[in-house]
Amino acid sequence: MSRFRYLTSGESHGQVLTCTIDGLPSNMSLTVQDIDRDLARRQKGYGRGGRMKIETDRAQILSGVRKGRTLGSPLTLVIENKDWENWKDVMSPGPLSVARRDMPADKSRTVTRPRPGHADLAGALKYGHRDLRNVLERSSARETAARVAAGAVAKTFLSAFDITIMSYVREIGGAGLKASELAMDSMSFKSLQSKFKKAELSEVRCPDEKAEAKIIRKIKGAMNKGDTLGGIFEVVAFGIPVGLGSYSQWDRKLEAKLAYGIMGIQAIKGVEIGLGFEMARKPGSEVMDEIYYRKDLAQRAPSSGGFYRKTNNAGGIEGGMSNGAPIVLRAAMKPIPTLRSPLASVDIDTKKKFKAAYERSDACAVPAASIIGEAVTAITLADSFLEKFGGDSMEEITRNYRGYLEQIQNF
Ligand SMILES: Cc1cc2nc3c(=O)[nH]c(=O)nc-3n(C[C@H](O)[C@H](O)[C@H](O)COP(=O)(O)O)c2cc1C
Repeated sequence: MSRFRYLTSGESHGQVLTCTIDGLPSNMSLTVQDIDRDLARRQKGYGRGGRMKIETDRAQILSGVRKGRTLGSPLTLVIENKDWENWKDVMSPGPLSVARRDMPADKSRTVTRPRPGHADLAGALKYGHRDLRNVLERSSARETAARVAAGAVAKTFLSAFDITIMSYVREIGGAGLKASELAMDSMSFKSLQSKFKKAELSEVRCPDEKAEAKIIRKIKGAMNKGDTLGGIFEVVAFGIPVGLGSYSQWDRKLEAKLAYGIMGIQAIKGVEIGLGFEMARKPGSEVMDEIYYRKDLAQRAPSSGGFYRKTNNAGGIEGGMSNGAPIVLRAAMKPIPTLRSPLASVDIDTKKKFKAAYERSDACAVPAASIIGEAVTAITLADSFLEKFGGDSMEEITRNYRGYLEQIQNF
């Protein structure tokens, strides 16, 4: 990421999560409401655990914005952890008091039992921690609240250029929409928007009522058995101009950058662009998006210069560049690793076998992951947009962008 650079910090039960963003232009309108809206969306979803009931995430902007507009200087965002009150002693940055050093392990909440499917064991061996809490506090997906905050800033930037990013859940635990259902390429922008509105109102972010009912039944069933589920969500970005990314170098390819961001989300184990893996099962004649041209379209939709496709199997990216069609990507999330029916593991102190004890946890977090997917997609696209049209102020970027659209229109 070369233009929209960001770093997050903070532990799951620490005082705060923070996010520093560098590379934002000046004179962009930004309010905390723009960020809080997505923070709230990340906390929803059928199958979430108790933690989300404790936290009501709100962002504070500590630097980089004055009177509702960005300054062009680094932005600092902070999200408080409400649970900190209950963890002050355990998570204190101060040295361990003599009294606490003598406390029994369970009282000081020392963790010596690594959970299968988590960073616990590899993290402890790698960093030399004898308390696994030192690993799990940071590897936890609580960190994604800070990433969603960064994503909301990226979305605000992109919306100034009529770019919108949305998501919905396709399937959970194998139940939901079939591969051919809700194919994006056969729908108008208007009908797609109404689908996304429906997803927004659904507890599992699925816009199809029948699929939604199947998904909820599946999650209920898993929860009753003390089990957990993963699933697949889809992110779609509209209004992307042709030419973001590049074919000229491997690390400038747009799909490579998008996949990098998506794979950086906790528990994501696969990503596909457009038809993705399905493409490998079909002949070329069925998957290439044929090219057409209409002169009037060049005026009405200048971001692709009048060239268009009737299908979008490529998911809006060819040769590492956006081709003017909506960008479509899907991600696969594994089931939540903390189960109520415990899994076998080995205590790092005693080296004895045990069955992991259950801690408060989500049974399914695919709807939340789709919001995080939107966020990292927005960040990658904002970075690529800044790389192509970069400038120090919104006015300069707008001028650059308009000039490019004119060039495409007159191609
Ligand atoms: C939104 C979201 C919520 C999650 N909630 C939990 C949870 O409550 N309990 C849990 O054990 N894992 C949860 N996870 C998954 C773990 O964070 C993840 O599996 C773990 O950090 C190991 O990383 P890996 O799966 O990428 O290998 C969640 C992930 C996401 C994206």
